[in-house]
Amino acid sequence: MAFLANALARVKPSATIAVTQMARELKARGKDVISLSVGEPDFDTPQNIKDAAAAAIGRGETKYTPVAGIPALRDAIAAKFKRENGLSYKPAQVIVGTGGKHVLFNALMATLNPGDEVVIPAPYWVSYPEMVALCGGTPVIVKAGIETDYKLTAEALERAITPRTKWFIFNSPSNPSGAAYTRTEMKALTDVLLRHPHVWVLTDDIYEHLVFGDFVYHTPAQVEPALYGRTLTVNGVSKSYAMTGWRIGYAAGPEELIKAMDMIQGQQTSGACSIAQWAAVEALNGPQDFIATSRKAFEERRDLVVSMLNQAKGLQCPKPEGAFYVYPSCAALIGKRAPSGNVISSDEEFVMELLATEGVATVHGSAFGLGPNFRVSYATSNKLLEEACKRIQRFCAELR
Ligand SMILES: Cc1ncc(COP(=O)(O)O)c(C=O)c1O
Repeated sequence: MAFLANALARVKPSATIAVTQMARELKARGKDVISLSVGEPDFDTPQNIKDAAAAAIGRGETKYTPVAGIPALRDAIAAKFKRENGLSYKPAQVIVGTGGKHVLFNALMATLNPGDEVVIPAPYWVSYPEMVALCGGTPVIVKAGIETDYKLTAEALERAITPRTKWFIFNSPSNPSGAAYTRTEMKALTDVLLRHPHVWVLTDDIYEHLVFGDFVYHTPAQVEPALYGRTLTVNGVSKSYAMTGWRIGYAAGPEELIKAMDMIQGQQTSGACSIAQWAAVEALNGPQDFIATSRKAFEERRDLVVSMLNQAKGLQCPKPEGAFYVYPSCAALIGKRAPSGNVISSDEEFVMELLATEGVATVHGSAFGLGPNFRVSYATSNKLLEEACKRIQRFCAELR
């Protein structure tokens, strides 16, 4: 009898391990490494949110909470969906989990049976296909390449849907590309979904607030109200309020699905941390000026990074609408020789060689299902970003 579960054979180890490990070793040897691989805002959590957590501790809010979340937070989430997305949910249609990741996992756990397919556009957030596989489903990857600014077309979505499709996972703005769908682009996809009533929509809106310029954010159930009854809208406080460590995510959708997720959570975590839930109430109900401040900082950094990367020989970097990532193509550099003598034969080798020579850590695109590309997170200071981009330019210029 095998000791480890068969389910483990269905998941891959994290594709970023090699880069992270090498960055750690280089740092330990004293090399000046700039990390552009992190997936969290570099800002501190706003003070009013920290104060709300301290006050919750003071009041003794330190016990188990209802599994689906404290009533004050479920109310605040319902109010947020109404205010910002025009979506009406009763608190009973809302669930709070230990991060958006946990909520997504529970939704898949509650619904997938062997043979169920889940359509995932690539480049994708690394966890989607792994979670689907762990829950016994089959990920169906559909490429959305640089030619469409990493956005899925209606035709590609139509082709990917089969009678076995259970979910379509949608993520705008996207990790890793930063691409965000306009209302028109989203409508083209929701029109396809209208023709396939057996397909549910799992929309991951975690980067909702990080959109730039005059871009107006939309979520699928808002663009196509007819999908409301088969959409789970997932969001969280991690990225919008610099609260990654507090581990609060949430979702709203049909009551039957929320009940099923509640049942799983009841046997699993018994609900999220009480103190973090009170902090999230303040994040959603309190002053919202932090969002505008962080959005402005990220927009400036996006412009800096896109401009500098497009000046690097052989890179092509589309300008995304949101999140804090860019996803340049390094296709023109594959097959070139680095000063070390190594030939760059894949995006993974590009990233490893860049790290070894210039001490800049990024993540290769093949980890996100679409390459040759690499992901740059610009959640760090302008000074470090400028220095890192200079190093990337130098690295690219020296490839022959
Ligand atoms: C696309 C996407 N969804 C969900 C998450 C999960 O966020 P959290 O679990 O911190 O709420 C992340 C975090 O990196 C992400 O990039």
